Amino acid sequence: RLDYVLSGFANQKRTEPDIWLLLISAAYQILFLTRTPDYAIINDTVTLAKQAFGGNKKKSGFINAVLKRLAKEKESFRFPSSENLHDFIESNLSFPYWLGMKWISDYGMETGVQIMKSLNFRKPVVFRCFHGLESFGPENRFHPTPYVEDSFEANVPIYLMRAGSCYVMNESSQLVAELLRNFSGKWVLDAASSPGGKGFVLSTFKGIEEVIFNDVSANRIQRILENSKDLAVSISPPVLSDFLKPSFRESSMDAILLDAPCTGTGTISGHPELKWLRKPGEVHGRAKLQNSMIRNAFSLLKPDGVLVYSTCSLEKEEGEDVVLDFVSQESHAELIHPFSFTSEQIKNRFERFLGKENFLRILPDKYLDGFFAAIIHKKP
Ligand SMILES: C[S@@+](CC[C@H](N)C(=O)[O-])C[C@H]1O[C@@H](n2cnc3c(N)ncnc32)[C@H](O)[C@@H]1O
Repeated sequence: RLDYVLSGFANQKRTEPDIWLLLISAAYQILFLTRTPDYAIINDTVTLAKQAFGGNKKKSGFINAVLKRLAKEKESFRFPSSENLHDFIESNLSFPYWLGMKWISDYGMETGVQIMKSLNFRKPVVFRCFHGLESFGPENRFHPTPYVEDSFEANVPIYLMRAGSCYVMNESSQLVAELLRNFSGKWVLDAASSPGGKGFVLSTFKGIEEVIFNDVSANRIQRILENSKDLAVSISPPVLSDFLKPSFRESSMDAILLDAPCTGTGTISGHPELKWLRKPGEVHGRAKLQNSMIRNAFSLLKPDGVLVYSTCSLEKEEGEDVVLDFVSQESHAELIHPFSFTSEQIKNRFERFLGKENFLRILPDKYLDGFFAAIIHKKP
């Protein structure tokens, strides 16, 4: 967006990157800050430029001229409208064209644009409290959040949340674990579990005797251990293994959570760099991996066991398509209602995300990251 604005007044290709960065920073302030006068922003930027470029008058003069024009013309400036879809997506909504177009084609114009708008805003920090809420002091520092009980929006710093056994966790992510709140079983495998959030939530459910944490990366196993210690959640030693060659016995698990590695496009609000890092072909690469993982997970289930499959991606290729493809090939697999084992509260609050085939497709909103979840039952 800022590149687009500035390109009306200067040629980006012919401008040194350091100068462009100063211009970007000033343009942001001129366009979006309401309490700082434009002349102060311009003065400060020009002073900075003089310092940064050893008093080079040509460079600071150029910056001064560009910013003065921007300040003068900003009221009449218009971002591109949807009549020119390419510029609308890239320069108005600030998304790569291929990704914006993919969402528009998958979800329709209105929802696709809504997704992009929603992902451009940071969501409030929400955390799940395991115990020790009282250590934060006065109750009024906490605001209950709309979707999941026991989760809060807080204006206390993140390090305090950790000290108090609270874990930053988006409500969509909490929901995935909440789907098994009323499940009863001895062994529940969290197949791709680091940094551990969903597994920690599962560990607190009364009907589940043992949660087995598994992950392919030694560093990430370490993070599970550190997090469980910080949160004072007691877990069994996590297993380091590649789920593409699982080291568990076939037909041994009562339930499995496969929160699959994915493109993460539903979490762009908190990780804005992802939208520029992701490339079109990656979606299919992830889907291939997910296909293998879902197959392996199913083989580890006892008859009558259930598999919760989830991703924090908005891409149907990694969600709906992976699940449908698997269920259509496996005669013992059936999709069951995703709220089969959850609380009334979760049912009521997330009902609006229930789609065809018993899929939960959560689109990002003020609070929620984009997520996908489904439950597959292994028919005896
Ligand atoms: C989406 S994250 C899981 C987040 C976790 N469920 C939570 O709530 O904190 C996906 C995880 O899958 C792990 N992973 C990737 N490939 C894997 C594989 N082949 N086998 C097992 N784990 C894998 C990654 O290391 C990563 O920790």
